[in-house]
Amino acid sequence: MNNDKLKDTKKLLEEDLKIASNEKELNDLKVKYLGKKGLITELNSSIKNIPNEEKKSYGLAVNGLRTLFNNIYEEKLEIFKKEELNKKISNETIDITLPSKKIKKGSLHPMTLITEEFEDLFVSMGYTVYEGPEIETDENCFQKLNVPKGHPARDAQDTFYLKDEFENFLLRTQTSTAQVHAMEENTTKGPLRIVCPGKVYRRDEDATHSHQFMQIEGLVIDEDVSMADLKGTLEMFCKKILGEKTEIRFRPSYFPFTEPSVEVDVSCFKCQGKGCNLCKQTGWIEVLGAGMVHPNVLKMCGYDPKKYQGFAFGTGIDRFAMFKYGIPDIRTIYGNDIRFIEQFNRKDDTYEVK
Ligand code: PHE
Repeated sequence: MNNDKLKDTKKLLEEDLKIASNEKELNDLKVKYLGKKGLITELNSSIKNIPNEEKKSYGLAVNGLRTLFNNIYEEKLEIFKKEELNKKISNETIDITLPSKKIKKGSLHPMTLITEEFEDLFVSMGYTVYEGPEIETDENCFQKLNVPKGHPARDAQDTFYLKDEFENFLLRTQTSTAQVHAMEENTTKGPLRIVCPGKVYRRDEDATHSHQFMQIEGLVIDEDVSMADLKGTLEMFCKKILGEKTEIRFRPSYFPFTEPSVEVDVSCFKCQGKGCNLCKQTGWIEVLGAGMVHPNVLKMCGYDPKKYQGFAFGTGIDRFAMFKYGIPDIRTIYGNDIRFIEQFNRKDDTYEVK
């Protein structure tokens, strides 16, 4: 009878293990056979009812069953674990043939675009790009540009001065200060041909003025430079940036660091000089300040004014950008609104009059 029980359990155990199809079922069988009330455990405890002379062989047979169970169990467990791992690996595979996430292409800020356009143009005419500091001394911003302390021309520029121990410093109000650096740094004191783009600061704020804006300064120094060279250069510059039909005119003006000085107007590109709201019915728009470098400036920056002359000009880059791209409010240029900035991502954008 005991033998029958052993045989039945062996048969059942083999069938059960054969059917088990995953790790959980396998573990359930472990409980069914080897758990506290498991079939093999029970067979084992019933050894006490076995006659003594059969105990040994009975015990061996029960142990044999346990070993059989464990062997099949381990074998199948290993297979299930492998299958599980393979499934995981195949699920985690990265399909490199999938198209990647689209990254939106950025665009250059309109100020960067137009500054680069200015630079390219002047570099093509043999100029080099020079950048001066934005924090300046009173000496470089005013005195060496022929504006001594107490000079009334200082009042025309609402300057940001620094405080306390830095009170001799200020934020530059014009890129003309870069002229001083460029001339002083040029140790040969020979010819110079530079453009200096950069930020400048004034205490101004409305639709056409910002406390921070950008200028570009041009400076040419050589032994035989005249107003005619200045006019030719600026005519070329305005035509290239605003269109070939653009005309320019000089009006006498005053800047302390140039003599003679001029304001430069361009013919209105919106109405072609006929008169409209942009040019306030005059047909002309003021865009530049310019003149022949004052001999005092040359002297203070180490040049011999008897040997060298030069011309200089300066203009607001923002102003040109507003004209060129039809931007009505300067504050949008610095508002950092992506919808605004994105509109200028082509270098050859041309101004369209609406
Ligand atoms: N710096 C002057 C301004 O900001 C412009 C200028 C530059 C005038 C060079 C003459 C020569 O208005």
